Amino acid sequence: MLVLGIETSCDETAVGIVEDRLHLRANVIASQVELHAPYGGVVPEVAARAHLEQLLPTIDTALVTAGVRLSDIDAVAVTAGPGLVGALLVGVSGAKGIALAHDLPLIGVNHLRAHVEVAQLEYGLLEPPLVALVVSGGHTSIVAMGPDGRFTQLGATIDDAAGEAFDKIARFMGLGYPGGPEIDRLAVGGDRTAFAFPRAMRDSGDYDLSLSGLKTAVIREMRRMEAAGTEPVLADVAASFQEAIVDVQVEKTLRAASDQGYEQVVLAGGVAANTRLRERFAAACDVNGQRLIVPSIPLCTDNGAMVAASGANLLAADAFAALDLAVDPNLSLAG
Ligand code: KG4
Ligand code: ZN
Repeated sequence: MLVLGIETSCDETAVGIVEDRLHLRANVIASQVELHAPYGGVVPEVAARAHLEQLLPTIDTALVTAGVRLSDIDAVAVTAGPGLVGALLVGVSGAKGIALAHDLPLIGVNHLRAHVEVAQLEYGLLEPPLVALVVSGGHTSIVAMGPDGRFTQLGATIDDAAGEAFDKIARFMGLGYPGGPEIDRLAVGGDRTAFAFPRAMRDSGDYDLSLSGLKTAVIREMRRMEAAGTEPVLADVAASFQEAIVDVQVEKTLRAASDQGYEQVVLAGGVAANTRLRERFAAACDVNGQRLIVPSIPLCTDNGAMVAASGANLLAADAFAALDLAVDPNLSLAG
């Protein structure tokens, strides 16, 4: 069974093709990074228009890459939320058109769940129970996939998402957009202990996180150094900031897993591409005897393969959408 997956929730027009739930046949991304870079962030209207231009060529390239034709496809899956409403509408409308024209089943995919489920392309079907940290530009939460396969949210950021914090600090430092990869690179040569930035809610006793205080602390420290005439060593600021984010996420996620009695931990979402986050999770899971499931970097950031993989699971469960499928910009992981 071949599933075509369409992703247009944010700033990547992406199309993936997955065969029999586990095999990746194509994963094509038309990135809009250069279009949004001058603005230092995603401009929703620009994103929607670019999706409109890129969607059909990206589908064509994915079909060519997989060596198949649209007539070989068994179902069309598309991200229905969460995301930018105008951007989501382009993908969903395109998917509906293809489904209607080729008499194919339509499948509505939850972007957050797809970030988690994409791991099956490299690790085999996920076998619950497990705990997942979902960290992206718009989302940061710790979720459990219970023995019945259902997702429940254990905790979440009460303010900024992790990716948002990376992007905002990068912008303040005058680095490029998106900021996460820039900080990741810059931090490699930096001293992680140069600044003692706050680890908010570390001992709050729940699984919630807070990142806006950290962001303010970094900005305040940089301004203080500038006022004192000291040139801040950006690599040290980046490394110390990154370490503070990573510390709390590792600690809370692994505690959630051990409190639930679950032995598997999944890292998902764009921020899961972060080198230090991956390194620290690997080391901590090793010590705890927990199994770490973390997709390769191209499958962590937004892509079409994740939508095709999640769609393939829904196809196997006969969970189809009607042709009046609506987009939901605020869809939650449990939704
Ligand atoms: O999942 P994603 O591609 O899009 C959303 O669903 O939001 O995540 C994008 C976010 C951006 O904030 C980006 O800066 C961040 O993931 N990101 C990273 C890294 N690569 C991407 N953050 C830290 N380190 C990275 N290597
Ligand atoms: Zn995402």
